[in-house]
Amino acid sequence: MAKIKSELSRREFLASSALALGAAGFSLTGSGAIFGRDQTAKKQRVALVGTGIRGSSLWGRDLIKNYADVLEIVGLSDINPIRLDYAKTFMGATCPTFTDFGRMIEDTRPDTVIVTTMDSVHAKYIRLAMESGCRPITEKPMCTDEKMVQDIIDAERRTGRALTVTFNYRYSPDAVRIKEILMSGEIGKVTSVDFNWYLDVYHGASYFRRWHGFKQNSGSLLVHKASHHFDLMNWWLEAEPVEVHAYGELRKYGHNGAFRGERCLTCPHKSSCEFFWDITRDAQAMNLYVKAEPADGYIRDSCVFRNKINIWDTMSVQVRYHNRVPMSYSLNAFMPYEGYHVGFNGTKGRLDVRAYHSQPWKVDTLAEFRLTRSFKASQVFALESGGGGHWGADRVMQDQIFRAPKPDPLGRKAGSRDGALSALVGIAARHSIEQGRPIKIDELVKI
Ligand SMILES: NC(=O)c1ccc[n+]([C@@H]2O[C@H](COP(=O)([O-])OP(=O)(O)OC[C@H]3O[C@@H](n4cnc5c(N)ncnc54)[C@H](O)[C@@H]3O)[C@@H](O)[C@H]2O)c1
Repeated sequence: MAKIKSELSRREFLASSALALGAAGFSLTGSGAIFGRDQTAKKQRVALVGTGIRGSSLWGRDLIKNYADVLEIVGLSDINPIRLDYAKTFMGATCPTFTDFGRMIEDTRPDTVIVTTMDSVHAKYIRLAMESGCRPITEKPMCTDEKMVQDIIDAERRTGRALTVTFNYRYSPDAVRIKEILMSGEIGKVTSVDFNWYLDVYHGASYFRRWHGFKQNSGSLLVHKASHHFDLMNWWLEAEPVEVHAYGELRKYGHNGAFRGERCLTCPHKSSCEFFWDITRDAQAMNLYVKAEPADGYIRDSCVFRNKINIWDTMSVQVRYHNRVPMSYSLNAFMPYEGYHVGFNGTKGRLDVRAYHSQPWKVDTLAEFRLTRSFKASQVFALESGGGGHWGADRVMQDQIFRAPKPDPLGRKAGSRDGALSALVGIAARHSIEQGRPIKIDELVKI
């Protein structure tokens, strides 16, 4: 297992973050624009690697539409040149495109690099961006194994370029309300947590059709998906995970199917398979993936019953935090509805939250809160969705990254430490399932 040579305290992390922009001769100030050493405002030069659905929509089209006054997309890169060309047109970008990331950096000299590739290659591009003197911003999960965590931390220390990890769930209205209630001390000190997340037969199944179905690409759903949830919990509790024990099973998808094909498009079981998905009815998927197949052979509508799928759909995880709080977590990926239940047990009461999401990108979230102080009646209230991507969270997060930094009393902005600690819970859970024993976080990496 990888060991980090020297321990890095929270203070050192913060110091290196502050150094990062300064070392590059930049400061991010009031307007969110970059100011050079001569204090002349200039637009941030932004390059992006990974022009799939997330890169081309939220970090491509939306940045061009909503942030053209403070930034300019100067380069786009992907290993698939067909997808790259389509994404450029879809975004309305006018910049050059590159299948060679290094060439893009050399030719376009970006200030900022946004990484929206498949999870297992995030670490490589984060490191290369740092080594090229750029400010890296990465989608979650920060990376998929402990060696990559170490590489990123080492590169950040070496280069002074601080990483931003885009944990958008921290910006959703329900996550914020939970944080506020916990910070208010209304339920006293949190002593234990019950947390269950449900992915439905549409959204959950989609992971088993795509590259996510293989641990070597996604780190499993314990890293790809649950890193959102582990990050929320680390942030809500302001605590660091120390030990993880997990169980995982594959009970519905993969080898469990009574029949299988290669992909839905050509499947002989179309009329009888309850997971049949007609990709031809999704114009965006046709353009981004089906038309791009000749370049890399990637099939977006692969069979959810492929025998080779090696991730779990049924997961149960116990996490112990440094402040003696145990959390009991589960993730199930073939549920009839989507959402989560979380319960915080405290010395003075309990907070229960239940959220039911439909399709996450057409959301109408309604989170139900039950706040109960010991010996008192429950207060019950509901919270509506903020509207927009991920319950309104995506836009608020992008404003915080690219516009005037507003006060952040809840500490929502996330860096490499947050990226590391959330990914490490999932990585430790994966090792725990594979090795049949509890795993200590400091067996993997010393942070
Ligand atoms: N925060 C969120 O809510 C959220 C939502 C969706 C996706 N994401 C994240 O965004 C990232 C992209 O997901 P997506 O849904 O767009 O997937 P996608 O499959 O649509 O896109 C991934 C892209 O990465 C490219 N790629 C793969 N290997 C590469 C390599 N070695 N070098 C360069 N490019 C490479 C692919 O060609 C593809 O264009 C993932 O890390 C995912 O976790 C986050």
